[in-house]
Formats: sequence, structure tokens, C-alpha cells
Amino acid sequence: MDNNAHTDPSESLNQRPRIIAVANQKGGVGKTTTTINLATALAAVRKRVMVLDLDPQGNASTGLGIEQSERKINAYHVMIGEASLDEAILETAIPGLTIVSSGVDLSGAEIELIEFEDRLFRLKTAIGSHLDGYDYVLIDCPPALGLLTVNALNAADAVLVPVQCEFFALEGVSHLVRTIDRIKKAYNPDLEIQGIVLTMFDSRNNLSDAVAADVREFFGDIVYDTVIPRNVRVSEAPSHGKPVLLYDTACAGSQAYIHLASEVLKREKMLAA
Ligand SMILES: Nc1ncnc2c1ncn2[C@@H]1O[C@H](COP(=O)(O)OP(=O)(O)O)[C@@H](O)[C@H]1O
Ligand SMILES: [Mg+2]
Repeated sequence: MDNNAHTDPSESLNQRPRIIAVANQKGGVGKTTTTINLATALAAVRKRVMVLDLDPQGNASTGLGIEQSERKINAYHVMIGEASLDEAILETAIPGLTIVSSGVDLSGAEIELIEFEDRLFRLKTAIGSHLDGYDYVLIDCPPALGLLTVNALNAADAVLVPVQCEFFALEGVSHLVRTIDRIKKAYNPDLEIQGIVLTMFDSRNNLSDAVAADVREFFGDIVYDTVIPRNVRVSEAPSHGKPVLLYDTACAGSQAYIHLASEVLKREKMLAA
């Protein structure tokens, strides 16, 4: 057993990681931003974390400062069976945080995967027992409910759903929750919803308040108390190849992601109990 990744031997030795898929079939709702910053906030409290960038757009890879030239072995090769997960893992500039990057080939993977009999479980199989020594794997899903997202949901222990505070948010998330239920029934009975996080909340906009109230009324306790505010520093950070937590630790967006991480950890304790 390889224990090199352990920094604190008193913590969770040799336990398999918890795998959390960050999913919503809508684009632009904050999946990637949440993946990057939650991962960074977890690494900051000495969790060993991996981001798995499963979106062909590769925004999580870019946002964590991974150059195109570093992405030669990426999630595509893992999904298609041309590389093992270990071969695809890259270090980031953040201690305790690694990444499996995305590649443009991933956009064709949905079609290439069709020929595999185990196409719904490619990722689960690839992860296998390769990630002992990690506490959390966060999968940044593409904005669709296709084969890549289904692979993420089948490999995951839990789903975290970012919901943008805008019109039609409730319909989108209801559709996703039905899909999660179907996946649970058909393939992955242990899949749980870690929680729903309201993103890009704008206190000057009445619609934000209304949407937040609706989502809370409908989904109750699974909605985190933490709300991620719309914050320009959050949107600037990716162009610097940094999580906002490093770009501007004090800004409201960073502080919100720190709170979200502590809520996620609290729920993890409850889910494990
Ligand atoms: N809290 C926020 N405040 C301001 N801009 C944000 C916030 N969260 C995300 N964004 C911006 O909104 C856009 C979409 O976010 P992103 O995380 O890429 O969504 P998704 O991965 O769901 O497509 C990006 O340009 C991102 O920088
Ligand atoms: Mg994204």
C-alpha cells in the first residue's frame, strides 16, 4: 500500500476517497467554479483532493493553471482505456490538490464509448482502487446528461448540484434530481445528494431572492445554508489560472466557498455515520 500521499498519519489511513460529482445539465451555473474552489478549500484544511475534469471544455484544468501542453494524458485516455488513472494525474500549484485534466478529444468520447459494453461504468472501473490516499475526488461534469455525466454519477458516492439563482432554476434541478433517482434505481443504489448550492446570488436582484426561496421551499434541508454571491473576483480568477481562494482570499466569493467546504464536511460526517 502506497501511503506517500498522507501528510497526517492520524487521519483516515488507507480509506478509499469519497467521490463527489458536481453536476447540473445546464451550462454556466457554477459547476466548474464550485469544483475548483471547493477542492481548494478542502485542500486548505489538509484533505487530500483530486479534481477530475470531465468537461471537454477543460475549464477546471484552465482554472487550476494547467497548460495545454501538460494535458497530453487526460481524462479522455482514461475513459477510453488508453491510460490508467495514475498516469493521468497532475500536480497543481496547490498543496494537496491534484487534477486529471480534460482534453478536447473528450468531446468525441460520448460516441466512442458506445462501442464499449461497460460504457456506463468506464470511469468507475478506471478509478477502481487507484485513489487510496485521497480523501475527496471532485468530478467536474459537462453541461449535459450524456454518457460522461452518467459515468460520473455511476462512479460517485454523492452529487453536489450548483443552481444559479435565475428563472427556470427549479425546473432544471427537478429534472436533474429525477435523473439522479433513475441512476440510483438502475445502477448506483448508494448514490446520495450531498447538497444543492445556490450560486451567483445577487442581493440587488429580487429574482435571486425569489429563486433562492423557491429552491429552499422545494428541496428543504438538502440546500446548503451557504449561498455563493455573484462576485467579480470569482469571475476574474480563472483567467489568472488560480482559484479565487488564492487570487483574493478575503473577497466575499472566497469566504463563501470556505463556508461551503465546512458545510460539505459536516454533511460528510453525517452521511458516513
Ligand atoms: N459567484 C460568481 N460570481 C461571479 N461570476 C461567477 C460566479 N460563479 C461563476 N461565475 C462565472 O460564471 C461563468 C460560469 O461559471 P462556471 O463555473 O464555468 O459554470 P459551469 O461550469 O456550470 O458552466 C464563468 O464565467 C464563471 O467565472
Ligand atoms: Mg464547467
